[in-house]
Amino acid sequence: MRIRVMGWGIGVVLSLVVLSAMAQGGGKLEIFSWWTTGGEAAGLLKLFEIAKRQQPGLEIINATVAGGAGQNAKAVLKTRMLGGDPPDSFQVHMGRELTDTWVVTGFMEPLDDLFKQAGWEQTFPKGVLELLKGSDGRYYSVPANIHRANVLWYNKKAFQSAGAEPPKTVDEFFQVADKLKAAGVTPLALGDNGIWAATHLFETVLIGSLGAEGYRGLWTGKTDWSGPGVRKALDAMVRMLGYVNADHAARSWDQANDLVIQGKAGMTIMGDWVDADNLAKGVKDVGWAPAPGNTGVYDALSDSFGLPKKAPHRAETLNWLRLIGSKEGQEAFNPLKGSICARTDCNSKLFGPYLQWAMEQWKKDAIVPSLAHGAAAKESWLTGINDAMSLFVTGKDAAQAQRLLTAAAAEAAKK
Ligand code: GAL
Repeated sequence: MRIRVMGWGIGVVLSLVVLSAMAQGGGKLEIFSWWTTGGEAAGLLKLFEIAKRQQPGLEIINATVAGGAGQNAKAVLKTRMLGGDPPDSFQVHMGRELTDTWVVTGFMEPLDDLFKQAGWEQTFPKGVLELLKGSDGRYYSVPANIHRANVLWYNKKAFQSAGAEPPKTVDEFFQVADKLKAAGVTPLALGDNGIWAATHLFETVLIGSLGAEGYRGLWTGKTDWSGPGVRKALDAMVRMLGYVNADHAARSWDQANDLVIQGKAGMTIMGDWVDADNLAKGVKDVGWAPAPGNTGVYDALSDSFGLPKKAPHRAETLNWLRLIGSKEGQEAFNPLKGSICARTDCNSKLFGPYLQWAMEQWKKDAIVPSLAHGAAAKESWLTGINDAMSLFVTGKDAAQAQRLLTAAAAEAAKK
């Protein structure tokens, strides 16, 4: 009896210790990303707010490195990971960036148990689940969202005064561009101080030229990089570059968007983080449409988070990942971030008009992987393409660009 009482007593003491530790909270979590612009930061801070509510006393280190698409962050992350100093979790694009950069190289922990506990095999679409797996068939990251890359954003007033409608085809794009130019407005805003933004524009032009199937084939070897479809896209791109703001190489994507907001430029072709940028800047009179020639195609990417093997705060990180994949997390984050949920059960009423439109397109469009945002090609290949684009944007030599792109594809196929 005495022993039983003592045993019970120890149990109570232990529970009290655990409870008081929970009440005191504590714990640390370092989250690494490049989300520093208005809409990006708003989404991230919302997630932090929920994480802190769920784990009182949690200290979050917001490790951001500014620069769209991770133009600076990715190099910093690499240095940290290779130096054995990983953050607890980091933003990583679902698809080739996740698998080829971090999974194949053995830096990440599989997350199958978490997926099982959270029931995520039932809440994420099959196509998304496949892109989260390594070649061993195990899950390696949790998707926070789905972004659409191929969107044309336009200043409604500028279009009205120029008598223009959003262009549906590449040919129409040039007609509209001429109208805007005649009205004294820069037709197309570009902010490629990170070359990825030019690559981003080019991937939408490739989709317009090759169609969904042809574009997919670029990544599987079925579409020839030296063929007429790629050449057509490069020629169109040369013409498009004739309509962009002179200071494009000095601007970021959000500074290019400012030109559209101010009515100095008529349009920009960028991912739907522009919707978040507009929301954060209180802008309402910007319209959207699929990029020219991209109707019916959803050029997709996803920001996801995983668990590095050497994450210093494993338990807190697992809680973070649970939040990232949860309905509560996705419904709070995505309306601010300009993305739709990766989950299939979010309440669409919580989202603004652009995102409600995107949700409808996501259900019916042909889905293709984004190049500039880590879904279509491994990083070394993307680097080769970005290098070709750097030369191309300044030299505007389509034949040279096609040779370089063909060589980059051949190089990627070797390894
Ligand atoms: C993408 C990222 C988005 C957005 C954008 C601009 O690569 O997936 O979340 O942040 O870059 O920085």
